Amino acid sequence: MPVADFAADARILWRLLRGQPASGSHAERLQAFYAPQADRYDAFRARLLHGRQDLIDCLDLQPGARVVELGCGTGSSLQRIGEKAGQFASFDMVDLCPALLAVARERAAGYQPIRVIEADATTWRPDRPVDCVFMSYALTMIPDWLRLIANAEAMLAPGGRIGVVDFHLPPSGSRLGNALWRKWFGHDGVHLSSQHLPQLRRVFAEISCCEQRAPVPYLPGVRAPYYLFVGERRQASRAADA
Ligand SMILES: C[S@@+](CC[C@H](N)C(=O)[O-])C[C@H]1O[C@@H](n2cnc3c(N)ncnc32)[C@H](O)[C@@H]1O
Repeated sequence: MPVADFAADARILWRLLRGQPASGSHAERLQAFYAPQADRYDAFRARLLHGRQDLIDCLDLQPGARVVELGCGTGSSLQRIGEKAGQFASFDMVDLCPALLAVARERAAGYQPIRVIEADATTWRPDRPVDCVFMSYALTMIPDWLRLIANAEAMLAPGGRIGVVDFHLPPSGSRLGNALWRKWFGHDGVHLSSQHLPQLRRVFAEISCCEQRAPVPYLPGVRAPYYLFVGERRQASRAADA
């Protein structure tokens, strides 16, 4: 790796070692954590956050679709969706961190259907029900994740699709392994759980799900557990319609 890239990575690694600040509101902590990383966020996360292209491929988003991404960060999903994003009926990209949204806004410029929105994904709602909601590595960073899943369900039209890719604590993981992952990610405000995937399965009709492990930058031989879930909003959902 060129020295300049390593120096840039070192800045990110230092921020990860320091962890998320312990004080301030959730939004303030996100901004303090991400603002110094925003310019290098994508390059580093490309080697840490796996399965994001697979998620977009599985969702098979079609022209004319109404789409929402919750916890969009720098809007890097646009790289993965490509020109198709310009053919959606609407594409709302929601995040709570202004530093990352500034990058997303630059990326989204010129795409007519895209709105980049600073809001809390647990409460924000689109103007009308949408065909697809997806999140990549956002569920683990949102403390009220039960509310987030309920909110995602509520914004979907019946039959609409949800896609989630994220780290988790798999039932197959050892107690020690899972405890180490919880501690290691928790330091940076990423809260791995064994409950996220079962809750997604309870709320949505499962279309596909796969559990994998993937490499972690600078930790040779270490592989972090993640899953990729695609589901459908059930036709009748009293909770979502409430
Ligand atoms: C690990 S990053 C993933 C970003 C992006 N989806 C990606 O794949 O690169 C998690 C994102 O969730 C956002 N986030 C955390 N809490 C949030 C909330 N309550 N509402 C909206 N976004 C939130 C963070 O600001 C951050 O951009």
